[in-house]
Amino acid sequence: MPDNNTKAPETRRVYIDYNATTPLKPEVKAAMIADMEVYGNASSMHASGRLAHARVEQARNAVEKLLGAAAGTVVFTSGGSESNNTVFQTMRSLASNPDGSPLPSGRNEFIITAIEHPCVLNSALYLQSLGFKVTFLSVDEYGKIKIDELKKALSDKTLLVSIMAANNEIGTVQDIKTITALAKAAGAWMHTDAVQAVGKIPLNVEDLGVDYLTMSAHKIYGPKGTGGLYIKKGAPLFPLIHGGHQEDGLRAGTYNNLGILGLGKAAAIAAGELEKYGREISALRNRLRDGLTAAIPNIKINGHPIDVLPNTLNVSFPGAEGEAILLSMDIKGIEASTGSACASGSLEPSHVLLAIGVGPELAHGSIRFSLGWGITAEDIDYIIGTLPPIIARLRAMSSL
Ligand SMILES: Cc1ncc(COP(=O)(O)O)c(C=O)c1O
Repeated sequence: MPDNNTKAPETRRVYIDYNATTPLKPEVKAAMIADMEVYGNASSMHASGRLAHARVEQARNAVEKLLGAAAGTVVFTSGGSESNNTVFQTMRSLASNPDGSPLPSGRNEFIITAIEHPCVLNSALYLQSLGFKVTFLSVDEYGKIKIDELKKALSDKTLLVSIMAANNEIGTVQDIKTITALAKAAGAWMHTDAVQAVGKIPLNVEDLGVDYLTMSAHKIYGPKGTGGLYIKKGAPLFPLIHGGHQEDGLRAGTYNNLGILGLGKAAAIAAGELEKYGREISALRNRLRDGLTAAIPNIKINGHPIDVLPNTLNVSFPGAEGEAILLSMDIKGIEASTGSACASGSLEPSHVLLAIGVGPELAHGSIRFSLGWGITAEDIDYIIGTLPPIIARLRAMSSL
């Protein structure tokens, strides 16, 4: 974990960008290092293979426990992007002619929201480019979908509803249980991208009733490049990657033993720490929110005030430019983000902030702070003390 507090003030680094990625938990790192000796191919019959296979299945068990999922319902993937793409391509296969064009009748329509992560948005836009109808639900000023709009959009043509459990930029949490009930009543398949929600808020796939749920290891202190897809028993799934018969033929490729073991370890730890995480991380987030609100005039907090991830704080600073704030903070050792890591470097204002009604100019002056294990109250106070002169200087420059 980042060791922020032993650093001298001028070299202090406060990593507060945990929605972009998390460091490995020390226990995860130790387990992975120990497992580097386990080199067998998990599909081999011999003892080395059986040992690797046992580790993979232990990890699956831990992930299924974290999600409240039945045994054998989680498939390992290379991460959230692959899991989400697999669901969309499965639906495409279900609703396509052999030439790839949408079937003219039957269920061939998709419903997503305007604030999905790019890997869902672009999967849907790709299907739209092939001729499939996609409805992009709007959200209110807090980032919540409007249930009436969903009801109106659902029909006997709806094939898939895909709505994220929690937003990566503003942290708003959707009511997936209610949304799923409506989607299922309309006869559609229901998927949720829960990459940001898993390990941060309680989630149980049986209780939610979803058909598919996406998660990723590197958001829960596990390794990058490993993730999972929950598939309810009976829900269709076609492989995105064809090859050997790993994962019951649902995801080919030699098992990424090390990544999977790390994911399993991270999932087991997250399950045991969920309550503590909610309590301790939200207290630190609230300290940051209240401290910034008191120290800097005229700021706007984005996201839902209650239905929000415990770790996320998105703040708009009118009159200051986001990239300039980031760079100034970086010089002082504070590492945050202007939006999702996938969108940073883009000059486009955040599609999430635009969708909740933040204007383009203000969207450009918004910062996402996302907290996690390793952040201390001293780190938060350091940010609260460091940011006001930065904002004051940038505002003065912009008014010149
Ligand atoms: C909501 C959400 N979905 C999907 C992803 C993609 O996950 P991965 O990086 O594992 O491909 C991310 C990562 O930022 C995310 O925040």
